[in-house]
Amino acid sequence: MATTDACLQETPQLPTPLLVTGGAGFIGSHFVEHMLLMHPALRIVVLDKLTYAGRKENLADVEAEPSLAKRLRFVHGDIADRALVGELLKKEHIAAVVNFAAETHVDRSLHEAIDFLNTDVVGVYQLLVAARQHNVSRFVQVSTDEVYGSVESGASKESDPMEPRSPYSASKAAADLMALAFFTSYGMHVSITRGSNTYGPRQFPEKLIPLFITNALEDRPLPLYGDGKNVRDWLHVRDHCRGIEAVLMRGEAGSIYNIGGDCGKTNLEVTEAILNIIGKPTALIRFVQDRPGHDRRYALDTSRARRLGFQPQTNFELGLRQTVLWYRDNVDWWKSVIHQDKDFRAYYERQYGNRLRNGVEALAESGHGE
Ligand code: NAD
Ligand code: TYD
Repeated sequence: MATTDACLQETPQLPTPLLVTGGAGFIGSHFVEHMLLMHPALRIVVLDKLTYAGRKENLADVEAEPSLAKRLRFVHGDIADRALVGELLKKEHIAAVVNFAAETHVDRSLHEAIDFLNTDVVGVYQLLVAARQHNVSRFVQVSTDEVYGSVESGASKESDPMEPRSPYSASKAAADLMALAFFTSYGMHVSITRGSNTYGPRQFPEKLIPLFITNALEDRPLPLYGDGKNVRDWLHVRDHCRGIEAVLMRGEAGSIYNIGGDCGKTNLEVTEAILNIIGKPTALIRFVQDRPGHDRRYALDTSRARRLGFQPQTNFELGLRQTVLWYRDNVDWWKSVIHQDKDFRAYYERQYGNRLRNGVEALAESGHGE
């Protein structure tokens, strides 16, 4: 494509080393792997607090490959710790920052949102301050389509107003505004990516796709909120990484870029596709009490990111099949969390206990009770 080639010809040198915060989480760990593979001269420092959602072992594939491992350094720490971040930026001569670090699950934010404020808002502020003090040349803030709120029809453009409706999306919207303020007030080279719902290997089994895959593999019920007709735009994790890479390399200062998969599907469609791939009956589906304030639909206009050369490449059915295979082949990665982690068990009970018990007779009739 002419536009893509033109963009690639204009590609500037990738700043190195890169600080990837939240790089032991789902998307961050794929981004680290993708960038080290694609850019042989790049060095990456990962800073991660290793919350319940972050694991060093998410970087195991990189660490097992000497040509990649030698260009990666892992640091355990909090983005809200300004002194630590400042020290790291200075010592490692960090040229650019890509911030994935966040509390990310809407349902958890509905129970209690203080961690979301501490990381997604205060943490981002501290990171911006440190990056400015140390003259970092580029700062990419990884944000979400959820900041636009529910979109009944059409597709959100970057110029649309933010109307976040959950504590999670409100905290991400606050960070977007703070990042833009650092561009306006101090001329910092800040860009924002707003990605859509992402799926793929290594996603913590609390989000729709990994939760339903792991439940289905163990013949446990799949708790679908409301009528199951809420729509999300699904983006493969590798495509999400390619979009962020395009913005890091060619994004304009002070600009926002939507990164979506152009793949709107109802939750029911996604659920049936998962069951179909695993070969389990639809009787596992349980319609349960809806999420409060549940956004009905997200959809993104991605033309601005496409002008940077971004284009989603992964077919949803294929990507979902590969994701299912990954969870089937990596049971140790998720079984210990689901069955042994006390915090996860407590979260699951609080989130789904009553929802599932309220329909326990229907479940028993279907022959798929826990
Ligand atoms: P995740 O929950 O899998 O990982 C988050 C990572 O951040 C974890 O490794 C965690 O340990 C780390 N972290 C949390 N608080 C930290 C802190 N204070 N300091 C340092 N590290 C900290 O998240 P994800 O799904 O990979 O999402 C990454 C980013 O992408 C987030 O900013 C999220 O808002 C955004 N996003 C996610 C999706 C999605 O569908 N998953 C879609 C669009 C945007
Ligand atoms: P989720 O993966 O939590 O992402 P987000 O809320 O950030 O979009 O949820 C995706 C969709 O799936 C959303 O419409 C809520 C729905 N959902 C269920 O129906 N049941 C569940 O158990 C979960 C976790 C999500």
